[in-house]
Amino acid sequence: MSRRIPVCTVEELAPGERKLAFVDGRGIVLFNLAGVIHAIDNTCPHNGAAMAGGQLEGNVLRCPAHGLRFDLRTGCMPGADGPCLTTFPVHAVDGRWVVSLQD
Ligand code: FES
Repeated sequence: MSRRIPVCTVEELAPGERKLAFVDGRGIVLFNLAGVIHAIDNTCPHNGAAMAGGQLEGNVLRCPAHGLRFDLRTGCMPGADGPCLTTFPVHAVDGRWVVSLQD
């Protein structure tokens, strides 16, 4: 079953910005990459670091703990096998960014 969680207004997430929200104790990070919104779980699949503090290099987010790099468009590491970030569908609904979570 899928739940739709409003995270923030469209105006609150300008291009280049990110937004961390907590839903049922789970951290979700939204990124606005040149007008395209991506939503990921805040937990690094390597060892659990908070991805919200990672450095962005284009579409790639570098984990602040050990430096693994994840493409926000796929959730996976470019050019390498390995664990992927958990990504979520996100849509604009009535002026808000809404994330769909699977229960
Ligand atoms: S916890 Fe993210 S790279 Fe190790």
